[in-house]
Amino acid sequence: MKDLRGKVAVVTGAASGIGLALARKFGAEGMRVVLADVEKDALQSAAQGLEADGVEALAVPTDVSQAEQVEALAQATLKAFDGIHVVCNNAGVFAGGVSWEAPLKDYEWLINVNLWGVIHGIRTFTPLMLERGEEGHIINTASMAAVTSMPFTGVYYMTKHAVLSMSETLYHELTLMGAKVGASVLCPELIATQIDQSDRNRPDALRSEGEAPTQHEVVMQAIHEGVKTGVPPEQIADRVVAAIRENRFYILADDAWRKTCEVRLEDIRLRRNPTFAPPVND
Ligand SMILES: NC(=O)c1ccc[n+]([C@@H]2O[C@H](COP(=O)([O-])OP(=O)(O)OC[C@H]3O[C@@H](n4cnc5c(N)ncnc54)[C@H](O)[C@@H]3O)[C@@H](O)[C@H]2O)c1
Repeated sequence: MKDLRGKVAVVTGAASGIGLALARKFGAEGMRVVLADVEKDALQSAAQGLEADGVEALAVPTDVSQAEQVEALAQATLKAFDGIHVVCNNAGVFAGGVSWEAPLKDYEWLINVNLWGVIHGIRTFTPLMLERGEEGHIINTASMAAVTSMPFTGVYYMTKHAVLSMSETLYHELTLMGAKVGASVLCPELIATQIDQSDRNRPDALRSEGEAPTQHEVVMQAIHEGVKTGVPPEQIADRVVAAIRENRFYILADDAWRKTCEVRLEDIRLRRNPTFAPPVND
């Protein structure tokens, strides 16, 4: 899909971080933008910011873990703009800690947002886009966490592996069917966003009481420090738009994570046990 001007983009998790940068970038490309997020005030100001820049924007409060809310998002998009061309299933949250101690509520929350959010996005938007017969592109946000495994972050990594697999399947299916709709998976490295404060949007019912799992604080502190010097989200938005134009599936980090990913693939190729190879910048 080369020409974005006048087309319609839907971005989930658009009130902050990567989603907000994507919404702004699409707006700058002359697209009409639908912003969806569970954090209502931040969502309204994000949409107002785009409008102040002359972008046609619509804010739709949406919890992506709820199928009917994602369906309502699609209907609101069609009603407002009569089109859906680019969909970014991007909303996501993080929690850390050793896997066997991580509370079931952590598993539920991360699977609900990171995985069910993408599932609902794919199930809702793909048929609508195919029915309309126009060119389009679906981008699912995974992470470099999708192509390797690290200790004390297993719940998050697992959800991202699943998003990668679903996205690859989506790509195969759309390609085999000769669809005009393309697919990409976005796998960023550490980005300067508010992901270290994901808990701000955790539903009360999924807040866990009792002790945090071992290594929880260490991991959260590491993420907190990491995002401070993370890559600006605007760079990720540039990568996404380039990938849409080039119909490129994998949108990967090109830094130390590349080696980590290659070591893991080599472990599998050689049938050797997993090597602990965290990303290290040269
Ligand atoms: N920041 C990083 O280092 C990094 C790296 C790789 C992948 N990612 C992924 O990027 C995506 C965006 O995260 P970010 O880093 O911009 O974080 P962020 O916290 O800045 O933004 C995430 C947005 O998702 C929203 N959200 C949370 N739960 C939601 C729900 N149930 N329904 C709808 N919206 C919801 C939040 O309100 C927030 O606005 C996530 O999928 C994340 O896993 C981030």
